[in-house]
Amino acid sequence: MSPTSISFNHHRNPLDDKKLNRLNMRPQSPEAWSGLALVCGTGGIGGAMATELQRTCPSLTVLTAGRGDHHTHDLQLDLESDNDLDRLSDELSSRNQPLRLVINCSGRLHGPTLHPEKRLKQVERRQLIEQFSINSIAPVLLAKAVEPLLRRDQPFHFASLSARVGSIGDNRSGGWYAYRAAKAAQNQLLRCLSIEWARRWPKATVTLLHPGTTDTELSKPFQSFVPAEQLFSPQRAAEQLVSVLLEQTPEQSGAFLAWDGQSIDW
Ligand SMILES: NC(=O)c1ccc[n+]([C@@H]2O[C@H](COP(=O)([O-])OP(=O)(O)OC[C@H]3O[C@@H](n4cnc5c(N)ncnc54)[C@H](OP(=O)(O)O)[C@@H]3O)[C@@H](O)[C@H]2O)c1
Repeated sequence: MSPTSISFNHHRNPLDDKKLNRLNMRPQSPEAWSGLALVCGTGGIGGAMATELQRTCPSLTVLTAGRGDHHTHDLQLDLESDNDLDRLSDELSSRNQPLRLVINCSGRLHGPTLHPEKRLKQVERRQLIEQFSINSIAPVLLAKAVEPLLRRDQPFHFASLSARVGSIGDNRSGGWYAYRAAKAAQNQLLRCLSIEWARRWPKATVTLLHPGTTDTELSKPFQSFVPAEQLFSPQRAAEQLVSVLLEQTPEQSGAFLAWDGQSIDW
C-alpha cells in the first residue's frame, strides 16, 4: 500500500528541558490521561485503538462511535451526516467528563462501486466526491462538532488517521488519484485547524497519523504486494499509534507522523 521510497524528517523541535517544564508541555504519562476519549470509526484499526487506549490509559473512559449496527459501538455516528455531527457535542457533554481525546479512525479506499484508479481514464466525479466525503470532509467536520467541548486550561488531543500515500512530496508511483488527493486534503484541513487551535486552545494538540500497512478490510485487496513482515496486525498498529500519540505535545501540533513517530513529507 505504501510507495516504496520513503523520506523521513524528524519533526521534533529540540526545546530544552527548562523551557518544556515552563510551558508545561512535556509528554504526559498514560496515567495522566483522564476524562473521555472518543474513537470514531470502529473498523480494524479503530476497534484495536479503543482496546489499546483503555489498556494503556486506565483513567480514560473510552467511547466508540460508528454507523450501522448499534451493538458494536457506544454512539451512533455517521461521519457523513450533518444531523449526527450536530448531536455529537450534546451527547458527549451529557457524560459529564472532560473530553481528553478524539481519534478519527474512519476512512474508505474501496467499495462495491469504488475502485482506486490506476489511470486517468478511471477518474470519475462520483468517486472523487465519495473519497473526499469520508477521507477529508468528515475529519474536519468532526473537529468542528467537538470544538464546543474544548477548554483553554484543559489538555486535548485530536488525532486522525491519514495515509502516507496522501503525501504529495512522497508520491513517486501515482495512481489512486481520489484516495491520495482526499488524504492530502485532510492533511491541509487539519494543519489549518492546528494553527487556529494553537491560538484559541493552547493545550490542544492535532496529529495526523499514518498507521503503516495494516491487515484490515481496507487493505485486503492490496496485501499481496506487501511483504508479510511489513503488514501489521491491527493490535500492533494500535499499540504503535497510541505510543506516538502519548509523545505529542501542543508545541508539536499539526504534525503528520508515521507509526514509528517519524515525520512524513507533506
Ligand atoms: N489498513 C491500512 O493499511 C491503512 C493504511 C494507511 C491508512 N489507513 C487509514 O486508517 C484508517 C482506518 O482504516 P482501517 O484499515 O481500520 O479500515 P477499515 O477496517 O475498513 O475501517 C474503516 C472504518 O471507517 C468506517 N466508516 C466509513 N465511513 C464512515 C462514516 N460515514 N461514518 C462512520 N464511520 C465510517 C467504517 O465503517 P463501516 O463499516 O460502517 O463502513 C469502518 O469501521 C482509514 O482512514 C485508512 O485510510 C489504513
